[in-house]
Amino acid sequence: MLKSHVIADRDFVVASLDRRLFGTFVEHLGRCVYGGIYEPGHPTADENGFRGDVLALARELGVTIVRYPGGNFVSGFDWEDSVGPKAQRPVRLDVAWGSTETNQFGTNEFIDWCRKAEVEPMFAVNLGTRGPREAQQFLEYCNHPGGTHFSELRKSHGWEQPHDIRFWCLGNEMDGPWQTGSKTALEYGRIATETAKVMRWTDEGLVLAVCGSSFCDMPTYGEWEYTVLDQCFEHVDLISLHQYFENHEDEIDRFLTAIDDLQGFITEVAAIADAVAAKRRSVKRIMLSIDEWNVWYRARSGEQLRARGWPQAPRLLEEIYNFEDALIVGGALLVMMNAADRVKSACIAQLVNAIAPIMTETGGPAWRQTIFHPFALASRYGHGEVLRLKVDTGTFAAGRQTKAPLLVTTVVHDPETGQATLFALNRSITEKMALTAELRGLGDRELAEAFELHHSDLKAINTRDNEHEVSPRAHPAAALKDGMLTATLKPLSWNVFVTRRA
Ligand code: AHR
Repeated sequence: MLKSHVIADRDFVVASLDRRLFGTFVEHLGRCVYGGIYEPGHPTADENGFRGDVLALARELGVTIVRYPGGNFVSGFDWEDSVGPKAQRPVRLDVAWGSTETNQFGTNEFIDWCRKAEVEPMFAVNLGTRGPREAQQFLEYCNHPGGTHFSELRKSHGWEQPHDIRFWCLGNEMDGPWQTGSKTALEYGRIATETAKVMRWTDEGLVLAVCGSSFCDMPTYGEWEYTVLDQCFEHVDLISLHQYFENHEDEIDRFLTAIDDLQGFITEVAAIADAVAAKRRSVKRIMLSIDEWNVWYRARSGEQLRARGWPQAPRLLEEIYNFEDALIVGGALLVMMNAADRVKSACIAQLVNAIAPIMTETGGPAWRQTIFHPFALASRYGHGEVLRLKVDTGTFAAGRQTKAPLLVTTVVHDPETGQATLFALNRSITEKMALTAELRGLGDRELAEAFELHHSDLKAINTRDNEHEVSPRAHPAAALKDGMLTATLKPLSWNVFVTRRA
């Protein structure tokens, strides 16, 4: 049996965990909005047409912030189409996804949905086909209290109070040739700067995220981040990272190292941002927003990626997740939590149907995909301060990694409630792992709960008729005595140990 030892001490803190790390994403894409969160006439729909079953699952998932309305969609989005009386809203071609957009769900409906789901909205503005003027007007419509053309327009549409949207993304994936109105780094850096300026002049206290690279293998990666930040460093708070994990080769050991690649991506982007700060002799630190991430590679080509014939709400990107994908999602969450000093928000893409933890049948039920579970547990127990750990464990080589640790672990301690939770991923494909963890300085403790996410079949999936095939179970082999947690971790398992003051 493998052995791993962890030391955590309450005084050695990485940073407070920003709850925006447990964000997700709703794009006008496929059946994410229509047939996902919104389906008038569905048996569980409320008077707004919001599906009650999806709302309940979004709450259970523990989502804190939701990015909207895209994605690639936003780069051709005219916000004016999405507000006002529904009967007067135009039907448009959405060229990003080859679909017909009816605009029956729009900006104000999304805000209502967020209020009902008790999540924070995160909005993206269109910097593909539009610019600072339209972004400013959209912000004025959403956030200005009243007395101006756009704020009064909102009121006339029935939303008296301002939406008070704090978090804004300055466009989406502007480095990608697939993006409507993609730009060079210099072009984008300039338009992002001018947009940020007028948005801040309209509403102080916004949090602004600028687009980084669409993924870390983009030919312009690195140079893009430097050039963009060199333009807009003074005007933005965060830079985005997007990362979709792939397993085309069906090699589990290589797939498992995707999370180490994410760790490298985070380290590199933070370093580039700091290089831009150094050039300016600035103490300001740009934070990171991983505002799209997930496993996504199966439903990523042909008619699963782009509809033909301009249908409404086609089945696009409907990735079916298996147990190994849940391990990767769980591992990625640990990497992000351990980087809590730089990663201040993250959005698993997306919420429902399109590359999503929640699946629905239009007119039928909703259920949890495998990846739902690590996310829900991480959000439920990821409160407080991430502790800096000393970890002794074996390593393995795969993919780009030569020394990937077999144990990936995170400890989060909440000084207010006294709860301390250890998350642990055993990446050995064949070996059990005897885990010992010293929880120092945390006083007398007891094990409150412990969970194991494991399945003997890496390809096991949850379906509408068998939705609990891959689900967390009570951990069968864990104990806590005299500040020492001991547990046996199954090969390829993701585990959670929740401790509280005795
Ligand atoms: O999340 C699906 C798509 O992936 C988004 O629209 C785009 O930003 C990314 O390429």
